[in-house]
Amino acid sequence: MEPHYKIAHIASECVPYIKTGGLADMVGALPKALKKLGHEVIVILPMYAMIDYSRHHLQPTLGPLGVWMGNTEEWCAVHTAQMGEVPVYFIEAHQYFARPGLYHDADFNDYLDNPRRFGFFTRAALQLCHDLGFAADVIHCHDWQSALAPAYLKIWHWDDLLLGQTASLLTIHNLAYQGVYSSAHYDYLGLQWGNFTPDKFEDHGRINFLKGGIQYADMVNTVSPTYALETRTPEMSYGLSPFLNGKGGNFTGILNGADYDTWDPSVDAYIPARFSSRDLRGKAICKRELQRRFLLEEAADTPVIGVVSRLVSQKGLDLLAQALENALQNMQIQFVILGSGDKRLEAFYGDLPGRYPGRVGSYLGYNDELSHWIEAGSDFFIMPSIYEPCGLNQMYSLRYGTLPIVRATGGLEDTVQQYDERTGSGTGFKFKDATPGAIFDTIGWAISTYYDRPYHIYQMIQAAMEQDFSWERNAKAYIDAYKKAIASHQTSAASG
Ligand code: ADP
Ligand code: GLC
Repeated sequence: MEPHYKIAHIASECVPYIKTGGLADMVGALPKALKKLGHEVIVILPMYAMIDYSRHHLQPTLGPLGVWMGNTEEWCAVHTAQMGEVPVYFIEAHQYFARPGLYHDADFNDYLDNPRRFGFFTRAALQLCHDLGFAADVIHCHDWQSALAPAYLKIWHWDDLLLGQTASLLTIHNLAYQGVYSSAHYDYLGLQWGNFTPDKFEDHGRINFLKGGIQYADMVNTVSPTYALETRTPEMSYGLSPFLNGKGGNFTGILNGADYDTWDPSVDAYIPARFSSRDLRGKAICKRELQRRFLLEEAADTPVIGVVSRLVSQKGLDLLAQALENALQNMQIQFVILGSGDKRLEAFYGDLPGRYPGRVGSYLGYNDELSHWIEAGSDFFIMPSIYEPCGLNQMYSLRYGTLPIVRATGGLEDTVQQYDERTGSGTGFKFKDATPGAIFDTIGWAISTYYDRPYHIYQMIQAAMEQDFSWERNAKAYIDAYKKAIASHQTSAASG
């Protein structure tokens, strides 16, 4: 018989409450899929100021929660909401979360007290499980923000009647963000100085949250098989490959899924017209409306290339900037971009429509509706990422029949099938080199296919829209990982 687990997700973002990137999509979808498979799941999040209390029907719950940190006790309130069938808990601590940003101020400077904010949140989340009587089989934590959970379980809760047996799984969504902070916070975090060693928390005299998490977690995974392989090499691990390799078989890659309740053109609540692979007329309407909204020439036959992205170097958008001018000057194309982040990239992409009126549109900022419009109305979606742990936008693009043009790395390599000019098979256009030249050539390849072999484009759209990255399948891979985490926890507890 299949086991039924109690699983608590501790995370810093979750759709529909709060989102800056794909982490939120993942945490908003996997718990629901686990619940459907019959497991008992809760999600614990920080109560940020931006969370809309009334829209999401939040309610106060429990009394105040006392949380012991290393050298002090602090208190927080807890609120709750329902995400479908899954209860979500919010840890409210004004001193930490009542501010305009999640991780940094408007100039992208990290909040200096981040180690305290997320250390406190993580300890509070475990305390909450305890006070709720939620005897979790597995704590599933995400990225550095909740990476201390496995350590707290082993250092603080080992003799807790409720959480003493709890295993942990740490999902790394992006190895570049490790949470490295001054050791001045170490006493507060209560991780014990005996653990401030290079194999655990110490990193050149500072505290490294993610490294400690990797060491203490019973199981670790990243969000695609290829990224798991890449991060085992020194070139792509930001210093952590020895620790990941040290986990042996307890480090693995599990591909993210796509939430097709939200991201499917036949049900999408945002887009101007719905469509499916059998009837693409709605896609043509979405394209026209997208062109109108971005003040582009309303040309049904000119291919539109779209981007929705955080504007950070990871995404290869400075390389794209160099290739794009050339492409705009030499090819009959239109380009739209939605994103925010790096000021230099914002300046470049923000100016572009002025320089190519009617051919380029840009929106600097965050906008859920527009992200759906771009997925639905573009012909191609470009992601020239330097690295990409999974990437969700290419999966969404496939479902909208918007062919991805991607660099073959991480999850992009795993989800996009290369076009074959002889047969018309494939779902997108991939390149290897992280250079403006490779990007330019691959855009050229896609665009010439669009004009010269439209029957291949049609065939690819059909194949793309049939791809199935639904969570049902991938959630099962997490169940296997939980099984492994529990077994490994029991073995290590038995060996003392
Ligand atoms: P990452 O998590 O590295 O940013 P992913 O491709 O996994 O990359 O996920 C990005 C998610 O964030 C997608 O759902 C995408 O639509 C969304 N997104 C990114 N930037 C914006 C933006 N400016 N406005 C709206 N949605 C955005
Ligand atoms: C990170 C990665 C992205 C991944 C997302 C969700 O933000 O950059 O590739 O899809 O997490 O796992």
